[in-house]
Amino acid sequence: MVSSNARIPSVWTIADALKVHADDPTTTMPVIAQDFPVIDDALWQWDTGALRRITGETVTFKGWYVMWSLVAERAQTGDDAAGWHNRNAFAFIGYYYSRNGIDWTFGGRLLNKSADLRPDEWSGSLIMRKGSENVLDMFYTSVNTDTNQSVPSVSSGRIYADDTGVWFDGFETTTEMFSADGLHYANASQDPYFDFRDPHPFINPADGQVYCLFEGNVPGMRGEFVITDHEAGRLPPGYNVGEGAQYGAAAIGIARLVSSYGKGDFSRWEMLPALVTALGVNDQTERPHVVFHNGLTYIFTISHHSTYTGGLEGPDGVYGFVSRHGLFGPYTPLNSSGLVLGNPSSAPYETYSHFVDPMGYVQSFIDTLPAPGTDPQNPATYRIGGTLAPTVRIALVDDRTFLTEVHDYGQIFAFDEWADSRQPDIRPAT
Ligand code: FRU
Repeated sequence: MVSSNARIPSVWTIADALKVHADDPTTTMPVIAQDFPVIDDALWQWDTGALRRITGETVTFKGWYVMWSLVAERAQTGDDAAGWHNRNAFAFIGYYYSRNGIDWTFGGRLLNKSADLRPDEWSGSLIMRKGSENVLDMFYTSVNTDTNQSVPSVSSGRIYADDTGVWFDGFETTTEMFSADGLHYANASQDPYFDFRDPHPFINPADGQVYCLFEGNVPGMRGEFVITDHEAGRLPPGYNVGEGAQYGAAAIGIARLVSSYGKGDFSRWEMLPALVTALGVNDQTERPHVVFHNGLTYIFTISHHSTYTGGLEGPDGVYGFVSRHGLFGPYTPLNSSGLVLGNPSSAPYETYSHFVDPMGYVQSFIDTLPAPGTDPQNPATYRIGGTLAPTVRIALVDDRTFLTEVHDYGQIFAFDEWADSRQPDIRPAT
């Protein structure tokens, strides 16, 4: 077996990205209605995830659907466009619960303030601890936007529920998982705009080990990368790599848990080379997550139009890669281009932070919707979202994906029995 450490990352090439096109109906989010409902008037709500197993499946707890969301108080940020765009420095993880997966009640903060090592809580994953009745692990990103610190971290607690609702205890302390080391992933001294966040732990069914995906950047000094044929791919005749391509350095990071999952010890991880890099293509691949389906390994990640480099273009949305040879690749872009679901060009910033679950349900939040009749790229007025988008479903068919279903705003699906039937064992770390 090739050691996971010896591997070279798969590349999302410039030639692949040239195949990205908005508005293909199989890879485009539906246009959201101007009168979309708002789940929570008091809070801005954005990145969201359902309670899930470490094997990925969404589950309920005692008949309740549960989700975490990044939220900020509208009263604190301002209940207007400026407040929405300022929300990141006020972000905390809130939780919601629901009987039907559609109508949500806000339950409050998930983490106690004593758990906060830094002012802000950014994205991650809420996971039922395998082998326990009600222990939960909230993997998240501990962030200080003033000092440019961003550390994947975890806090643990317990979940309780009765006929009236859901509540938690614990979540009082935080353990830092790992940091950007400048060797496997860029750190702040190499790249002042470095990304290092959004932990997504899971079990690799092939080896029973616990791994964690996260958003990173290729190590090296920002702007000094040389884009070779390896990153460019098979370019059309006469195509010249665009100016600024060397600023695109996104990486889908991975680490392996070395300390004990069974003991809830998440303090020691082995940093591994990225699974996929986007050198020359894009500077951000956020919230990466994995789905094992029909013997293939799918990785999904969200990215922005604004983070493409070298003159490349693509919509805000979710992108993906597939491997036929297990977790460590090699990966090729889904749908040839990498685009899985992008925003329509008539509403280019309508949704973001898509999360694909193992059943193919895709959940996201509403960002901004241009007012009808205005230029969608530069709208005179737009409606701010700050709430959840309609959940859609995609079919994963080998190395292609297809939009197949549109459901309710913020709807979450859980199939506990199906989840029970797919539980591989965790083997102790070696
Ligand atoms: C995606 C994202 C995440 C980050 C969070 C901060 O929408 O940028 O990468 O954790 O939002 O709000």
